[in-house]
This record gives sequence, C-alpha cells and structure tokens, in this order.
Amino acid sequence: MKGVLLSGGTGSRLRPITHTGPKQLVPVANKPVLEYAIEDLKEAGITKIGIILGNKGREEIQDILGDGSKYGVDITYIVQGNPLGLAHAAGCARDFVGDDDFVMYLGDNILKSGVRDLVESFEAGDYGAGIALQKVDDPQAFGIADVDDNGNVMELIEKPDDPPTNLALIGVYVFSPAVFDAIDELEPSWRGELEITDAIQSLLEDGHAIDSHVVTGWWKDTGKPEDILEANRLVLEDQALDTAGVIEDGAETDGRIQLADSATIEDGAVVRGPVSIAADTTIKAGTYVGPYTSIGANCILENIHIENSVVIGDSMITANGRIVDSLLGRNADVESAEKLLPEGRRLVVGENSQLKL
Ligand code: TTP
Repeated sequence: MKGVLLSGGTGSRLRPITHTGPKQLVPVANKPVLEYAIEDLKEAGITKIGIILGNKGREEIQDILGDGSKYGVDITYIVQGNPLGLAHAAGCARDFVGDDDFVMYLGDNILKSGVRDLVESFEAGDYGAGIALQKVDDPQAFGIADVDDNGNVMELIEKPDDPPTNLALIGVYVFSPAVFDAIDELEPSWRGELEITDAIQSLLEDGHAIDSHVVTGWWKDTGKPEDILEANRLVLEDQALDTAGVIEDGAETDGRIQLADSATIEDGAVVRGPVSIAADTTIKAGTYVGPYTSIGANCILENIHIENSVVIGDSMITANGRIVDSLLGRNADVESAEKLLPEGRRLVVGENSQLKL
C-alpha cells in the first residue's frame, strides 16, 4: 500500500494567506496541516508517499518535508501543476503507484482517528475502492454515499436535494490500480474538473465492490480561515503537554501549554491553555494569551490580549487591545497607534483580507 497526498489546488478560500504559500503548510497547533496526514499514513504502516504539487509553493513544500526521512517515510514529489480536479491529481500518481493499492489523502484535511481502520477495512475484502465517510447534519452540502448494511457503497450522489443517508465523503480514499483506467475515461464535470466521485461511480458501474468506513472522531477540512481556527481548537484539546520553554517567576499560567524550549513567558504575562507557543517567541509582561491560541515561531507579544487565534509566525504584536477569532499570516505586525495623530486605525492590508473593527 502506498500513499498519495494531494498538495496542489488553488486555496482561494484561504486568501490572503494563500497568496504567498500553499494552504497545506498553514500551521495548526504550530505544525503544518500536511504533516498530520504524513503521520497518519505512517501510523497505518504506509511509508512510500507521493506528494502531488500544484503551481504554488512547490519549493517550500519540498524544503519542509525533504525526502521524508525525518518522519520515517520515503517521499516522492509529483507535479500536477494546474488544479484540474482530484481525479486528475490521482491520475498524475499512476507511475508512482504502479500495481499497488494506495491511500489518497487530501493534504488540507485533518482526522482525529487517522486512516488505519479505513485501510484495514479495505484490505479485508476484494474492493476497487474504499471511502471514508462521516455523519453530517447538512447532507445537502456534501457528496453523499448510499451504503448497504455491510458498508458496501451502492451509489454516490453529489449535493443531493433528497439525501438517502447523512454519510458524507471526506477527504480520504483507498484505491486499487483499477481506478487509473476509470480516470482515463472521465470527462470534465460542469466545473471543468475530473471528479473523484465520478471515478468511483464508474468503478461501481464496472462491477467493482466499493468499501466504506464511517470515521468516528472529528474530521476537519481546513479550506477556510474559520476551519483553521476550529482545527486548531480540536488539535490543541488533544495534544500532549510539552512545556520545555522558560516560564519566569511572576508569570501566570494554567491549563495545557505547549511551550517550545526556546520560548519564554515573562514575568507579568498571563497564559491560559490550551495554547501552543513555538520556538524563539516571547510573551511579555501585560500580555494575555487565552485558550485555543497558537503563536508561531519568532514572535514578540506585548500588551495584547489574544485568544482563539492562530499567529503563523515572525510577528510583532504589541498593541493595547483584544484580538479574538483571528488568523494572522507570517510577518503580520499589529502595533499600537494610541499616541499618533490623527486618531484612527492605520492599515496596510493585502488583497482579499478581512477586517472586523
Ligand atoms: P479543494 O479544497 O477542493 O480545492 P482548492 O485547493 O483549489 O481550494 P479552493 O476551493 O479554496 O480554491 O482541494 C482539496 C485538496 O486537494 C487540497 O489539499 C488541494 C488538493 N487538490 C489538488 O492537489 N489538485 C487539484 O486539482 C485539486 C482540485 C485539489
């Protein structure tokens, strides 16, 4: 079994963060989203992983992941270029996959319970594909599977008006190499993409059995800023404690705090977990870092009250005020304008930014 991790796409819903980098490298609890998927594949015993690259951030992804040895896996990079659809991305992996089965994992998805159960369920039968499903409250908004009592998929329906089940397809699949012939036959959909649901439907029509596995723990697609914040909350809630950094006397801390060894919480600062603070970051006196916040590497925070937010890194945040429910891109600075005249907000804001003042 091999792994194919999709790290192309446009990432338009995560602009402006994705103007400068791929969304799969946005950190959740100070770790790029893509690393969670690599760890899940490794945990399921899959060590040969192909990473599909789009047009954006190819070098950045390769710089961070390298040959995979630091994760105990062997990474091959495969260029897709333009995002012509999930089935097109899978098709790009044909030479890499060869005659093996493979897990296809969307690189912007995070799953609490990993992919081991899905893989085991697929391997227990003779299937053309296996799909991961999760119960959702609004099945009209998803690709939905109709399954029989044994979990065999009978039909896939995209955003049905009258859903037969509330079981939505999430971003993890297992395929036999038969999928490549199905992909070869596909025509682009109305949105101009080769759809993976069409490939699975065609396997079904060709007589292949399709397995399904209902994922029980949480699952998050990190496509939008609010999804990043929610994934950050979910991961921070589960993470192991690792407070290797310096907490000075007079600093007030409680709850679960992950503090990198070169990070400091200074005398007079208050940090209430769950919180993650990365390397070379200093939380200075008068600062409050509240629950569900991740502060990336090389930041200085002073005076600010911040909670339920993700700061990606290399930021100076020294304003007097409160930041909540926010996602700050790399190198974003937030300073005080209090003593400046004329009074008012001073903004240097990139295209597609969102401000609520
Ligand atoms: P999406 O989130 O559906 O697409 P996107 O990245 O273009 O995002 P947006 O809608 O905000 O513009 O893609 C799901 C995952 O699959 C994501 O990790 C990107 C990846 N992908 C590819 O690698 N190649 C593709 O052709 C497409 C469509 C997606």
